[in-house]
Amino acid sequence: MKRQLSPQLILSSLLLLPLASQAADRLNVLCAADNDWCEVMRNAFEKETQVEVSMVRKSAGEIFAQIRAEASNPKTDIWWAGTGDPHLQAAADGFTEVYKSPQLDKLHPWAQKQAEISGFRTVGIYAGLLGIGYNPEVLKQKKIAPPQCWKDLLNPALKGEVQIANPNSSGTAYATIATLVQLQGENEAFAFMKKMNDNVSQYTKSGSAPAKALARGETAVGITFQHDLLKETVAGFPVEVVSPCEGTGYEIGSMSLIKGAKNMAVAKRFYEFALRADVQSLGAKASAFQVPSNKTATIPAKAPRLESVKTISYDFAKYGSDEVRKRLLKRWDDEIFSLPR
Ligand code: F6P
Repeated sequence: MKRQLSPQLILSSLLLLPLASQAADRLNVLCAADNDWCEVMRNAFEKETQVEVSMVRKSAGEIFAQIRAEASNPKTDIWWAGTGDPHLQAAADGFTEVYKSPQLDKLHPWAQKQAEISGFRTVGIYAGLLGIGYNPEVLKQKKIAPPQCWKDLLNPALKGEVQIANPNSSGTAYATIATLVQLQGENEAFAFMKKMNDNVSQYTKSGSAPAKALARGETAVGITFQHDLLKETVAGFPVEVVSPCEGTGYEIGSMSLIKGAKNMAVAKRFYEFALRADVQSLGAKASAFQVPSNKTATIPAKAPRLESVKTISYDFAKYGSDEVRKRLLKRWDDEIFSLPR
């Protein structure tokens, strides 16, 4: 006797099948690198896997806030790139998933350490140095000596000529505060930022915005990552890069899987993809001059190298902790952002 399928069963199978296959072929990525690099990654992953990627670029602090807000119903599967501190805070707050990549031993020790201190909820994907950028043409026109040190940013001649991002949205700006605190002591660093506020024209949303403003000649000095400044120099704009004489901080750009991600299996594929040497070497295509975390990835010839300048011994566990990041941001809001400009 032939078994008859009910029309309802046939209909529901037809409706469910495409849905199931769509869900497996989709990935939602929040990207905190420069937009050009986000696009290179999206295109390369789509081409290799045929997965449909929705990729949105946001600053690291904004991503942290979004992930916290969506924690009970995540819309994001993976957070790729961005300074390590908010990735570590997300790990401490339990918003990201524990995952030990089989490729961990292919990474530089600083990238593996980032994974270890987070309990394997994040991992290092690149490193980049903080710096000061200036536009020599604007400075010459205004007869101002180029800054070489953090202390030079207090020069009264630079009034209204300095840009840096807002540390609530920007990982770059938070890393700068953490660097100044580690170099000078917390109270001294806040006194320094208070004085520097006299020279700041605006606190931008994204960390690399001051580099772009320098390139357009809209500001004389910008505080941001050296690789973001270099991108403008290489594109032919009058932007000079300085490693501050007192020493500087750096980032371990990181990647985290979101806890409860709807497309976790595909997110893990992207994670493994992003740790591969050939994929990390693609950064150069987008003029991304960070140092890749995979030991065999090609380091862009122009990449500012950590070992070639004076750096602080950045305490990532401390400055990426929930308590310290929250407290420093609140103090910055209360004591710096509230000041007149
Ligand atoms: O533009 C690239 C980059 O500087 C990354 O190296 C860094 O992780 C990220 O941007 C920080 O961006 P934001 O300061 O906007 O969070």
